[in-house]
Amino acid sequence: MTNKVATLNLGDQQVDLPVVSGTVGPDVIDIRKLYAQTDCFTFDPGFTSTASCESQLTYIDGDEGVLLHRGYSIEELSEESSFMEVSYLLLNGELPSKQELDDFSYTISRHTMLHEQLATFYRGFRRDAHPMAIMCGVVGALSAFYHDSTDIADPVQRKIASHRLIAKMPTIAAMAYKYSVGQPFIYPDNKLSYTGNFLRMTFGVPAEEYEVIPAVEQALDRIFILHADHEQNASTSTVRLAGSSGANPFACIAAGIACLWGPAHGGANEAALNMLREIGTPDKIPHYIERAKDKNDPFRLMGFGHRVYKNYDPRATVMQKTVREVLTALKVNDPIFEVAMQLEEMALNDPYFIEKKLFPNVDFYSGIILSAIGFPTTMFTVLFALARTVGWVAQWNEMISDPGQKIGRPRQLYTGPTARPYVPVSKR
Ligand code: ACO
Repeated sequence: MTNKVATLNLGDQQVDLPVVSGTVGPDVIDIRKLYAQTDCFTFDPGFTSTASCESQLTYIDGDEGVLLHRGYSIEELSEESSFMEVSYLLLNGELPSKQELDDFSYTISRHTMLHEQLATFYRGFRRDAHPMAIMCGVVGALSAFYHDSTDIADPVQRKIASHRLIAKMPTIAAMAYKYSVGQPFIYPDNKLSYTGNFLRMTFGVPAEEYEVIPAVEQALDRIFILHADHEQNASTSTVRLAGSSGANPFACIAAGIACLWGPAHGGANEAALNMLREIGTPDKIPHYIERAKDKNDPFRLMGFGHRVYKNYDPRATVMQKTVREVLTALKVNDPIFEVAMQLEEMALNDPYFIEKKLFPNVDFYSGIILSAIGFPTTMFTVLFALARTVGWVAQWNEMISDPGQKIGRPRQLYTGPTARPYVPVSKR
């Protein structure tokens, strides 16, 4: 709380609203008592000016292009850390000691297997089902396996559920891929790293020894770090809202996966690569830029623009560097990278994009890397979901352990008909 107040003049009524400061970032006007005091709600579709909760996990300064997890910059974390370490940091608030990190990684590795009964769920899907549809179904189904053993009021049980979710997500994701290509499921090998294990479960086959390529393992681990958490984005808010009713955590994460799937959110990486492939050659770029600027054309530059970043998304900078490393390591010469670079340059010099502060976001380059590694486009958002699971569970835990936590229940501006008498069908 600060000494500042915001004064709202409503007709002849004057209301003082407390102003609350965080450790960094904009102050917030506390409107919790506004309705009781004035009989008015605030109106903010899309939550463009609304802080929905208090959080200590992630800080974004969209104007400066800053992203911090528990105070550590995304640039440093993606350069120096590992996905397991970042997961520990998000869940526990501090970087682990060597022993704590080893123990955490070991614990996660002990939960990688799925109940064998879950494999039968996959067989119920069409082979051409989108893997995100499978993810929604299978992760939601986990709630049936761990319902009675998950008392969300008990921090220990919450911790176990969190570890299970982080550990099982790669297995579930790899199985979704295997099912779509008609190959047998590969069981986890806990000698491998979190990311190496996922690569083997995805690309390994029983007939051959799978060798993890260190450059690919490192690049994918970095991509997981870049996607681990992003404060109160749409899918995280979905998880919090679902969880606020006390729902089963596996069901809440399934809700987050459903939200992430949309092309305006996690689905953008798939859409961005499809767009780059459609553009195909640099000479077609101006045509697509014109289309993106045309108000009468629904086309948008996918992987461009962000609700919060009005500057370069710091994750896109790391991603662009990683593309080069992966393409070099795998000796892949993908002309799409050249198209992406030129598209970025042209857009960043175009008055429309400058004026609207539209910059590449995390999804602009990630598809090129994932495609070079061998993932089909339909798996891109699945990888995002895998990595974001740690953010979702950390945010869910934070919410449940907050004593001020209430069920999320927004209000509305009603513009429908007022009360009117029912007319029987014979008289309509
Ligand atoms: N291409 C062309 N114009 C765009 C783009 C784009 N990618 N993004 C925004 N604009 C324009 C809009 O047309 C709008 O113009 P107007 O003011 O003349 O009406 C203005 O910029 C503001 O756009 P909004 O949609 O109002 O901004 P909002 O914050 O609601 O949307 C969003 C952000 C959804 C990310 C948007 O920029 C977009 O659709 N981008 C493409 C999809 C994408 O890359 N999504 C990934 C986001 S990152 C993530 O989820 C991991």
